Amino acid sequence: MQRELTLEVVRITEAAALAAARWMGRGNKEMADKAAVDAMRALFDTVDIKGTVVIGEGEMDEAPMLYIGEAVGTGNGVEVDVAVDPVEGTNLVANGLPNAIAVLAIAPNGTLLHAPDMYMEKIAVGKKARGAVHLDRPIKENVLSVAEALGKKVEDVTVVLLNRPRHAQLIADIREVGARITLISDGDVSAAISTAIEGSGIDLMVGTGGAPEGVLAAAALKSLGGDFQGRLVPEDQTEEERIKTMGLKDPRQILELNDLVRGDDVIFAATGITNGDMLKGVRFTGQAAYTYSLAMRSLSGTIRFVEAVHQLDHKPIVKEWRLID
Ligand code: FBP
Repeated sequence: MQRELTLEVVRITEAAALAAARWMGRGNKEMADKAAVDAMRALFDTVDIKGTVVIGEGEMDEAPMLYIGEAVGTGNGVEVDVAVDPVEGTNLVANGLPNAIAVLAIAPNGTLLHAPDMYMEKIAVGKKARGAVHLDRPIKENVLSVAEALGKKVEDVTVVLLNRPRHAQLIADIREVGARITLISDGDVSAAISTAIEGSGIDLMVGTGGAPEGVLAAAALKSLGGDFQGRLVPEDQTEEERIKTMGLKDPRQILELNDLVRGDDVIFAATGITNGDMLKGVRFTGQAAYTYSLAMRSLSGTIRFVEAVHQLDHKPIVKEWRLID
């Protein structure tokens, strides 16, 4: 993929974040999501790719736009798989809570796992702890191993995980081994990425969250040189069958980074919607708006933090609540 696409990908997440940010704290997660989807969809029409959505808003009959299998882009240019999460953390936006982001990854056709909408067990670490964890190992061993890889005492290691009843045992074990914990209400993509951002204060992400979000986190960690493993959690026979149709013989097999994102070429971007540890949220100043994004290209390993000032009256289409171009 041409390196210029990195900027195009950021333009798309910026638009989604600008649109969703209008809905911050308004208690309406559906509208926040719809605004971001509309904005993303409109921007795709300006980008020269022949894209197919592989991680999107749902199956064709569930989602009017950015559904799985939808063609996006002008149709001219490189054939790519597209993974989107226009609002990662819809509740966070609705309640004005930190760490909501707009996310997009693109990779050459056939290289992103077409993860179904089900749960996935996950473990993520940054570069220094790559190779130090394994999903099959007890959490206590993983925490100790991360401490060793980072040259830290276990009490200096911080683990992030979603605050869910299903994580009670994990939380108890992490406490027992002596590490610190950050419990988040939503947003495990941003949590996984933070393990690989120097100075974030987060060393390890574990727990069960959405499988589509797992692929997006893996796309980011590939560029950041970190590690990610996932294992799908089918909840019934139908979900197991669904996994088999994806070509996975064992529905419970561990998916390594290279199974989730095959090949070395992936472009990832995220823009802050609400303020976060990694990215600031959208700031409106009247005629302008500021956005803060992260853009990465795995081939070069370049990580860009992009601050943009958008002149809202120069945007072709700005509606009352929805910025759609
Ligand atoms: P949405 O943005 O779709 O609301 O997802 C937020 C999220 O917290 C993800 O980051 C996470 O993977 C998933 O939901 C966890 O699912 P659940 O809320 O069912 O535990």
